[in-house]
Amino acid sequence: MSDFSDRLIRWQQRHGRHGLPWQKTRDPYRVWLSEIMLQQTQVATVIPYYDRFLVRFPTLADLAAAPVEAVMEPWSGLGYYARARNLHACAREVMTAHGGEFPRTPEALAALPGIGRSTANAIATFCFGAHAPILDGNVKRVLCRCFGIEGFPGTTATESRLWRDAESLLPANKVSAYIQGQMDLGATICTRGKPRCEACPLREICVAHREGRVAELPTPRPKKALPEREATLLVLRDKERFLLERRPPAGIWGGLLSLPELPAGAELASHIERQLGARLVAVTPAPSFVHTFSHFRLRIRPLLCEVQSQPRAAESDHQWLTKTELARAALPAPIRKILSAFP
Ligand code: ADE
Repeated sequence: MSDFSDRLIRWQQRHGRHGLPWQKTRDPYRVWLSEIMLQQTQVATVIPYYDRFLVRFPTLADLAAAPVEAVMEPWSGLGYYARARNLHACAREVMTAHGGEFPRTPEALAALPGIGRSTANAIATFCFGAHAPILDGNVKRVLCRCFGIEGFPGTTATESRLWRDAESLLPANKVSAYIQGQMDLGATICTRGKPRCEACPLREICVAHREGRVAELPTPRPKKALPEREATLLVLRDKERFLLERRPPAGIWGGLLSLPELPAGAELASHIERQLGARLVAVTPAPSFVHTFSHFRLRIRPLLCEVQSQPRAAESDHQWLTKTELARAALPAPIRKILSAFP
């Protein structure tokens, strides 16, 4: 376990970031401001906003005294404006409830507007020498990869597990360098898209690296379950010819040839007779299967219908085609798959 923190601390001291504007101070106002700005925004974007904000509001008292609109102004462009509203509310609460001094414990900090557990721990560690782990998106990614932790980190179960791991990994000394190292590693080496494992101090102990699972971890957010619909598709065969139907231009498979669909509740033989101009001789169900579209899943139930056609009655959007003609036709993949089952 200490191997993890030792490696991170040594790496942070040699290769981590040291000259960031909020690293020059232990002033909780400045550290707090930086941590809030950095919650959803990268360092390079934050720096000019941070500098301008401090020119406009040099102290917590200045910020608390300003109307909230005056705070939104230097924030505009950073996004996630709830952060700015919470920032202002937090400044006022520190003035009124804490006499203008930030509280020093992680618990008291986390009770303030806009300060979650990880941010509270970072402020308490950087400013007040607390011993408390952080767990933001970057750190979750580093832990999931290094220890091969599965499960989407947004679930309560995985997140609790990660907090327990983060607590037990915390070193006895140099906690500031350790948590800064986690932030720096996640932002510069163990990135989401193209991690630079060759430069990583954790390479030798990283489970994901050893098992070739860096691209799989952390486990992505589970895909939303798509609604499932059903369609009975009719394969009308008259000797060696099959009945195809042109789809309307809009909607799924727009303009392509497809198989006619049996409307829900319709009676098979009379539908075939009245709508498709053929007389049903025999019917055999084929195995159903699911085709996935971007917004729903379609369970397709094919019915093979041996028929005798009455060409006069067929409508113009219907065509009888041989297997040879079908081979050249533009068909949706699942339709081609159905037809390929019939010689
Ligand atoms: N991301 C969140 N907090 C940070 C910090 N103090 N330094 C660099 N990146 C960060």
